[in-house]
Amino acid sequence: ASALWTGWPAAPTPGAFLANTLVLWSMTLVVVITRQAEGAAMTALSEAYDRARQALDAARDRQLELKQALKDLDLANREVIRLNDLLIAAREALEEARRAKEEFVANVSHELRTPLNMIIGFSDEILKRPDLYAERLPQELLDDVAAIRRNSEHLARLVDDVLDLVQVDTGLMRLSKEWTSLAEVIAEAQEAVSIFFERKGLKLNSRVDPNLPLIYCDRARIRQVILNLLSNAARFTLQGGATIEATRQEHAILIKVSDTGPGIDAATLQHLFEPFQQADPSIRRRYGGTGLGLAISKRFVEMHGGRIWIESHIGTGTTVSFTLPIESGVPQTTLKRWFSPYHDYTPRDRPSLVP
Ligand SMILES: Nc1ncnc2c1ncn2[C@@H]1O[C@H](COP(=O)(O)OP(=O)(O)OP(=O)(O)O)[C@@H](O)[C@H]1O
Ligand SMILES: [Mg+2]
Repeated sequence: ASALWTGWPAAPTPGAFLANTLVLWSMTLVVVITRQAEGAAMTALSEAYDRARQALDAARDRQLELKQALKDLDLANREVIRLNDLLIAAREALEEARRAKEEFVANVSHELRTPLNMIIGFSDEILKRPDLYAERLPQELLDDVAAIRRNSEHLARLVDDVLDLVQVDTGLMRLSKEWTSLAEVIAEAQEAVSIFFERKGLKLNSRVDPNLPLIYCDRARIRQVILNLLSNAARFTLQGGATIEATRQEHAILIKVSDTGPGIDAATLQHLFEPFQQADPSIRRRYGGTGLGLAISKRFVEMHGGRIWIESHIGTGTTVSFTLPIESGVPQTTLKRWFSPYHDYTPRDRPSLVP
């Protein structure tokens, strides 16, 4: 009967107590660990949730920005189209202005030159054949007609010079280039001005290299330049004369007109290539001229890719030099290339297939 259940547990042995305590501990540990793990999981979850929300917000912001950027792009696109239209309109206006200018220059030259040519032509006729008008025209009348002729010729030259200048400066001047012998052009110019030298008892010498290559240039314009320089030399020189030289340099031809005239001081030299510049106001009265010759010459030379300059000293004379590049502006891609004396002809080595 002592083995029967008494309702009271037998007093625990120290081993059992230890075991119980261990079980209790480890259960508490498990609970604590589980709680902690739960807590960590919850924190991670909520952090992930926050991050996802932030990412979503950021994505929404991006979307809004993108929409705004698209709108801006559309606006910019429309602005570009508008500006393009403006540009087209401006270009058309410019083209229109250019055409108007071209027409104006052409009209002015026509309107002024036609009556001037008639004045020159009729006064010429009267002077050459006065008997066609009356049996005998009084000498005073003939003298006056001669004055009309002189002045109208001067006016015609002035009109031509001003128009040349306007045409170059507005980009309307077209050069008509051809293969040209400078020796010929120089000889022509020399002949044209020789009378001015003879009248004043001045000498005109020329030293032109006989082996000059042909130059692709506007013959009439280059002749005009040489005429300007030679007539200046004749106009301003009182004793001695002038020399025109043409020599070959490496890539250009150098043309020099030097005279034994009064020379020009350094301060004046700088302005002589500007239109209407003369050394002093008495020049026009004493020698005539308008101060356009050098300005036009400079433009023509530069249009050919050359350079022009003056060296002068009071008392010793003046030298005006200019260069013309050899082979300047030779059109390499057009038919003219075949007519160029500088175009190399290489015979084909393949025999012709023509029977
Ligand atoms: N060889 C020269 N000797 C001295 N002075 C010169 C010489 N060439 C030019 N000049 C000076 O330079 C000025 C300008 O020359 P430019 O040829 O441009 O005009 P111009 O001869 O007076 O008139 P235009 O050539 O229009 O008939 C002249 O007025 C003169 O004062
Ligand atoms: Mg002149």
